[in-house]
Amino acid sequence: MKLDKVLAAVLSLADAAAVSSRQDTTNVSSTPALGYDELWLLQNEFYERFMYPNNIKEARAINSTIFSDDVQGRVSDTRNFEGRELNTEYIFGLFTPTDAVSVIGRPIGPYEILQFAANQNIASATTRVGFIFPSFKNLSLPVTIDTWISWNSERQITQYDVTFRWFGYLFETLLLSLDSDPTNATAKAVNALATSICSTHTRYCNGTNTQYDSPEDCYHFLTQEIRVGQSFELGMNTLMCRSVHEIMVRYRPDVHCSHIGKDGGGMCDDSMSYAFKVDEKYFTNSPWIPQVF
Ligand SMILES: *[C@@H]1O[C@H](CO)[C@@H](O)[C@H](O)[C@H]1NC(C)=O
Ligand SMILES: *[C@@H]1O[C@H](CO)[C@@H](O)[C@H](O)[C@H]1NC(C)=O
Ligand SMILES: *[C@@H]1O[C@H](CO)[C@@H](O)[C@H](O)[C@H]1NC(C)=O
Ligand SMILES: *[C@@H]1O[C@H](CO)[C@@H](O)[C@H](O)[C@H]1NC(C)=O
Ligand SMILES: *[C@@H]1O[C@H](CO)[C@@H](O)[C@H](O)[C@H]1NC(C)=O
Repeated sequence: MKLDKVLAAVLSLADAAAVSSRQDTTNVSSTPALGYDELWLLQNEFYERFMYPNNIKEARAINSTIFSDDVQGRVSDTRNFEGRELNTEYIFGLFTPTDAVSVIGRPIGPYEILQFAANQNIASATTRVGFIFPSFKNLSLPVTIDTWISWNSERQITQYDVTFRWFGYLFETLLLSLDSDPTNATAKAVNALATSICSTHTRYCNGTNTQYDSPEDCYHFLTQEIRVGQSFELGMNTLMCRSVHEIMVRYRPDVHCSHIGKDGGGMCDDSMSYAFKVDEKYFTNSPWIPQVF
């Protein structure tokens, strides 16, 4: 028997075992042997859908079928995102056009996968994506995105671990586009971002979703009572964190208004220490190390 046939046989056994071990709850294998070629296609399919304007269609689906129902996602410098609906919002909705002033750009392409390795149901890729940043002089900049993604036998993404490489440098480049003086650049950004968040709050967060007593209360809190936030603080008690979440408010005010409010709604607070983040054992849907060596 040739080596590749042995491997295929072992893989299908592993696949069958994975299916049978999960049969009581679901018949979907969490660790199918998809093979390099299919994983390459799946990785490309993700980026096709991620690009503007395709991401608008995906965001409108509300529950994008590219994700499994129990998808788990971790995004560098922010937080973890669980479930299909939330991930449809954060992966697709977040990057669609918005009236908000935001550091989040729009992936207009092209994208190019520069590094790629894949095994069983897991792919690791480094991808360079062309973005524009409408709130920052409409700058056009490439962004490097490192991903680990796992798929189930339905070809749905069950986990992703994403790092925006050199994000701190990108963040500073965006800021300095506003003013060559860093202090003045930050002051301009703070004013624009806080004004935008407060206007979103006024428009969408009324009734039981209200977070601030008035636009003045909102602006004062965002500009005087919390940090602006460094590039790694998009999931902490900062203005920048609330700015990221502002874009989501229009989709589900009942879920997202609290994220731009004073206590951060579990998304923008200082509860996660550095060591907690590093040591957290988050992913449970599929091992990140392939079953077959
Ligand atoms: C699981 O899938 C297999 C093969 O597709 C099928 O034969 C079996 O009936 C399914 N089991 C359940 C519980 O749906
Ligand atoms: C999306 O999925 C969630 C959870 O399964 C469900 O509660 C919600 O109604 C779905 N939304 C739509 C528009 O299908
Ligand atoms: C921003 O840049 C994009 C792509 O380069 C262009 O299509 C768009 O018209 C620009 N918008 C503004 C307001 O300049
Ligand atoms: C910063 O802005 C202030 C007020 O607009 C201006 O007077 C000052 O010269 C600016 N500083 C620098 C270094 O550009
Ligand atoms: C409350 O906010 C919703 C959007 O979440 C908006 O449609 C509605 O008009 C607002 N109501 C008032 C009274 O402002």
